[in-house]
Order: sequence, then C-alpha cells, then structure tokens
Amino acid sequence: MLKFPQNFLWGAATSAYQVEGDNVHSDWWSWEKKVGKECSGEACNHYKFYEQDFNLAKNLNHNAHRFSIEWSRIEPKQGEFSKKELQHYEDVLLSLKKLGIEPLVTLHHFTNPLWLSKLGGWENKKSIEYFLRYCDFVVQALAPHVRYWITINEPTVFLSHAYIFGVWPPQAKSFFRAKTVQNNLVKAHVKTYALIHNIYKKSNAPRPSVGFSQFTQAFVPCVNTLKNTLATKLRNNWFNLGFIKTCAQHHALDFIGLNYYSRQLVELKQWGIGNFIWDTCQNNHHSVKKNSLGWDIYPEGLLDILLKLKKYNLPIIVTENGICTPDDVLRWEYIHAHLKNIHAAIQKGVPISGYLYWSLLDNFEWDKGFAPRFGLIDVNYNTTQRTVRASALKFGQVCKTGILE
Ligand code: FCB
Repeated sequence: MLKFPQNFLWGAATSAYQVEGDNVHSDWWSWEKKVGKECSGEACNHYKFYEQDFNLAKNLNHNAHRFSIEWSRIEPKQGEFSKKELQHYEDVLLSLKKLGIEPLVTLHHFTNPLWLSKLGGWENKKSIEYFLRYCDFVVQALAPHVRYWITINEPTVFLSHAYIFGVWPPQAKSFFRAKTVQNNLVKAHVKTYALIHNIYKKSNAPRPSVGFSQFTQAFVPCVNTLKNTLATKLRNNWFNLGFIKTCAQHHALDFIGLNYYSRQLVELKQWGIGNFIWDTCQNNHHSVKKNSLGWDIYPEGLLDILLKLKKYNLPIIVTENGICTPDDVLRWEYIHAHLKNIHAAIQKGVPISGYLYWSLLDNFEWDKGFAPRFGLIDVNYNTTQRTVRASALKFGQVCKTGILE
C-alpha cells in the first residue's frame, strides 16, 4: 500500500485543439486539409460538452484538471480579440470551480493562429510580442480563477516536429530555423512568466505558480559504447533538461511540468549531428510491451528522470502521462506502474505535487488522427457519447484515497 502526500493534485489533462472541435482559425486547421491528413473536425465537441465532461471527472474524484486556451479563438485576426471566446474560457473555469476542481491552464499547446503562421510563426521575432499581448488579455481577465499557469507545452516537441523532423506545420527541416524558434520560445516563456506575476502583484492577488510542460523520455543506450553513451547524455541534456535549465537560470520557473510516456533506445549509426539527435535501435527491440503507436512502456525511466530533476529544487507536477491502447487492462497496468515510480521518487525526496493523466477523453492525436485511444473516457465520435473505462474507475479510487494498492 503506497500513500501519496496530502493535497496532491489528481486529475487528467486535455488540450484545446485536440478536444474542442471547430478551431477554424488555427494553423493546424488549414494544414490538415492541405496535406490530406485526417481532420480534427468537431473532435470531441468538448467546447460544447465541457460541463458534462467535468462532471465525469468529478465523479472520478479528480481534484485538478489541465486544459489549454486556443490562441486562435481569442485572437482570430491579428490584433482583434474576442470577448465572447474569453467569456467561454471564463465559463469553463467557473464550471471547474463549482466542482472544486483546481484548474491548470496552458497558454500555448502546439497550435498557432493562422495569421501568425502567415507572418512566419515563431521564426518571426515579433511572435514574442504577439504572444505576450494575447497572454496579457487572457491573464488579466482570468487571473481571479487561476493559480497554475503553464506558458508553453513541450517546446522541444513543438520545435523538433515542426522545424527539424518536418512532420508538423510548417514542415521545415532546418537546424538553423529550429534554433531561431527555440530562442524565441525561451524568451516568450521568460517574459510571460514576468507578465503573469506582474498582473497578480498589481491586483494584490495571491502569488500564482507559473511553469511550462517539458516532454521527457528515458534515453537508454542499446549497447554501452562510447558513441551511444555520448549521444544518450547529449539527448538527455538537450531534449529533457535544456529548457528547464535555461528557464531556471532566468529564475522564471515556479514549478516543473513534466510529461513522460516512453523511452528511446539510443544507437549511433555514425558520427554526425543528425545521428546524434535521432539514431535509434528501436525497431530491433520487442522485449517490452508497447502502446498502440509502438512506444515502449518503460515506467522505471520516469523515476530516473524525476531523480535527475531533484537538483532544481522546484516542485514537480506530472502534467502528462498516459497510454493509447485498445487494452484497458494494460492502461491500468501502465498507470499503476508509473504511479509506483512517482511514489518511489517522493520517498527519495523529489518534491512531486501532482499527477495528471493524459488524457481525460479520447481525442485527436495530431498527425496520427483519432485512432490512438488515450482517454480515461471512451468517446464515440459518431454519437459524441462518453463511456467511462474501468481503468478510470481504478485511478479514481487512487484520486479519492491518495493510496495506491
Ligand atoms: C504529448 C502532447 C499531447 C498528446 C500526447 C500524447 O506530447 O503534449 O498533446 O498528444 O503527447
């Protein structure tokens, strides 16, 4: 029997574009159509059904919920801000508040307004100013309802998928362009951190907690050669810790948002910048169970990363961890094993204060479409009907008692 700390945040996460539906002013909306990918369309219709979905979360004993605000709804045209959409997000917050669920609000979760991408997206250094203006509008209005802000979701995933691997819009494959985006994202985070704190200070509101969500994975050498060990270290420092380190150095982090799913098996085929970044021996290893996208299930890697983060002396909230699978027994096995490792990290003195499963609902998994099922709650995309999975009930018991049997 493993007991978690009192006041632990328990719940699940979503992001606007993946669940709301009809985000017609977003860059992803036009990109999906242009490249002929499965389109997000009405997604889970969560824009309409959020109250019903939060009631389900409440019945599952969640006391926290992470969601994101869609910038392209708030500012559909450059400089034109929508009071109506702002009101929508205030209603979302009020609905969580009524249920006693603590919101964690993300300001940027991969998608951008189409107008911004036409101006060069995050490669344009003005993106920082535009982002701040949007954040100012949102935070001024919503501050009374929010204690936890997440500025940017997974900056390294955003920039590697969109600017290095070329699989997300704008499909660039350029280290040089990626570096520009990286610099702008860091600056945007640091400035937004200050902006949010200033807004709260001016209104004498209690100090908020501001951080960002970092995608992490366990990097494990296939064979312990010098090349592989070096590449493993480099990937760990760059992909897992780089942004955290920089933001901490700027004193712009109140907590670390940690997203963890899987491992990567590192095998350097030859010396080269690209090889250092992406060579793996993944396909040769069938020794562990996998999710439906083929990602290895590797819960012990989470403990490793949590221990590495201890030195930053910051509270850590697991802002995403989850599995897509048609096998709901495996889903519970996955959650259980990861919670066990989180508990072990807490025992070793890592200050972890919450766990948010990805995701509350099945949803639109970016370029992979609707096939991967990550939800605690099944969504029938034809009827919009929700069905709570057995794994959700088991997790709900942990949320209720703070005890993992
Ligand atoms: C994370 C993303 C999230 C979701 C999960 C499966 O990298 O933040 O939106 O797609 O992966």
